[in-house]
Amino acid sequence: MLTQSIGRHTGGLPGVRAMSETHPGDCVVRPARPDDAAAVSLVHRSDVIAWKGWDAHGQPTWSHYEKLTAFERWMNGGPWMDEALCRRHLAHMQGPSRVALVAEREGTVCAEAEAYFGDEPPPFGKHLNLAVLYTRRDYAGRGLGSALMWSLMEMARARSCESLSLSSASAPGFYSRFGLACWQRWRALTVRANLRNSLYERDSSELAPAPLPAGWGMALGRIGSAAQMWDRLDPGERPPRDARSPGILMVADLALRSGRERARVVLEDKPFVAGVVTAYVWTPDGRLSPRMWAALGDCAARLGRSQMHTWADDMRRADVPAHARWGEEVREVWGLRL
Ligand SMILES: CC(C)(COP(=O)(O)OP(=O)(O)OC[C@H]1O[C@@H](n2cnc3c(N)ncnc32)[C@H](O)[C@@H]1OP(=O)(O)O)[C@@H](O)C(=O)NCCC(=O)NCCS
Repeated sequence: MLTQSIGRHTGGLPGVRAMSETHPGDCVVRPARPDDAAAVSLVHRSDVIAWKGWDAHGQPTWSHYEKLTAFERWMNGGPWMDEALCRRHLAHMQGPSRVALVAEREGTVCAEAEAYFGDEPPPFGKHLNLAVLYTRRDYAGRGLGSALMWSLMEMARARSCESLSLSSASAPGFYSRFGLACWQRWRALTVRANLRNSLYERDSSELAPAPLPAGWGMALGRIGSAAQMWDRLDPGERPPRDARSPGILMVADLALRSGRERARVVLEDKPFVAGVVTAYVWTPDGRLSPRMWAALGDCAARLGRSQMHTWADDMRRADVPAHARWGEEVREVWGLRL
């Protein structure tokens, strides 16, 4: 039985069409296209050491790539793990405010980067958030990752961004070479979902709310930028359908009756863990008051769930309910002022 997931995360961003090809050395950087899917999927899969499947009880087991369903491939590391899913994802990334770039050597795609433009409360401001950066294992150390980083920085400056950020610095030594530094540490936590007599209103738009208001930040669940996390709700970005796929249980705007506090909330089932929802929350200032926490717990309890799992900024522990159980998993948010 496995207890650890293999080191991959999901995310995604693309297509600044106006960008010209850049040629650092003999490497070409250009926008990624959907027909790059086979090569891009190969880049990402080169990072996977072993594949996981799941038995009927949701317990992970070692498996073979060929035996995995589309959903299980996704669960091993996102849409890049399967060529067809990767094609769909790259098509999605052609949209505005998203960037997907590939780096080629002698006509072979050997590395890929994705990022999202966004606007969030300080320290981010108007920014470009790097969501994904991978070099094919057999091409590592040949300047491809750096070429993509320089291209992204150039694009961010060209769009007058205040910062370049990334939300899961799994290669800190690499990013520090570009001047990025750790800005925040987001830690996993679980809280009980209790029914409360909270005085709040929930909008009626349910699963089809208005676009995320510009300038709002993530109060909970910042495993990507605010724009990136919102993008996950796009039907083309959801995991493939499977009896085990996580369902989105709620997308709603909450407003406390006292005062002006508002929050955009997404609750989705945590795959393979009954009774637990994962919470993602956006607010105008990226913070969440105790009363809004109570409203959130009330929403989850009304959905019949007993616990909420999420991530919160380590510096804002004082805002988090005292009964929260903090986990070991930490995601470092890195940034660079441009
Ligand atoms: C991190 C990564 C994208 C770097 O890509 P790359 O194409 O190998 O990078 P480059 O060849 O441009 O490396 C430039 C320099 O950074 C160094 N470097 C690369 N990865 C490094 C790391 N994790 N820590 C410290 N230094 C690193 C290289 O050794 C090289 O040093 P040199 O110029 O002194 O020889 C690549 O190693 C990778 O795909 N890693 C696995 C996935 C990952 O962690 N991605 C980032 C999170 S999404």
